[in-house]
Amino acid sequence: TAPAAVIVAIDGPSGTGKSSTSKAVAAQLGLSYLDTGAQYRAITWWMLNNGIDVHDPAQVATAAAKPVIVSGTDPAGPTITVDGEDASGPIRTQEVTSKVSAVSAVPEVRTLITELQRTIAAEAEKGIVVEGRDIGTTVLPDADIKIFLTASPEARAARRSGEVKGSDLAATKEALIKRDAADSGRKTSPLAKAADAVEVDTTELTLQQVIECVVTLVGEKRAAK
Ligand code: DC
Repeated sequence: TAPAAVIVAIDGPSGTGKSSTSKAVAAQLGLSYLDTGAQYRAITWWMLNNGIDVHDPAQVATAAAKPVIVSGTDPAGPTITVDGEDASGPIRTQEVTSKVSAVSAVPEVRTLITELQRTIAAEAEKGIVVEGRDIGTTVLPDADIKIFLTASPEARAARRSGEVKGSDLAATKEALIKRDAADSGRKTSPLAKAADAVEVDTTELTLQQVIECVVTLVGEKRAAK
């Protein structure tokens, strides 16, 4: 018989290496991959394009169900479309990054996106690596393994700054701390470590070391299943 599908939840603040780690782990283990931050970014991008005041929760809540967001879950080439349009580029702009926390704090948005995430996870035949902020606590509380990645603010800012061309380190650090504070401080499913998550501090680790660590943890859980 085929091995049971394995569900891996990877949470943590920005710049801890969540996306790179999650994609590599999924590829190595032959699992699907879901970037839940991309979904929140996609809905934010749609709101900005459609004249919604993202700082008005009532407007955001009313519009939340309008865009159709579809995620492709191949770790070698994850995709995201909004109403059929490729959104993978535009969801990474500064404008979206600075507005996504406001949109993702609205409960109606979270309910819709969470349903989408659970459906995608349930349909992944071999299993899936899902990365985000509330996967282990709220979206998939029964995940087989939960990882919580952390790193010092300095390391996180340096990594983000390296990803964004021409960015200023001090400004990046400030924006990142602000976004994490908003994501951790919101009322509905804030960024938090699940009680049964394994915390991995990536400050002093290379990406390769983090990947190996997570692959080992998943392997142990799978063997015990
Ligand atoms: O991982 P990211 O930086 O692309 O995520 C963008 C934003 O989306 C993040 O600032 C908070 C929100 N988010 C969330 O609220 N819940 C998740 N599971 C993933 C992301």
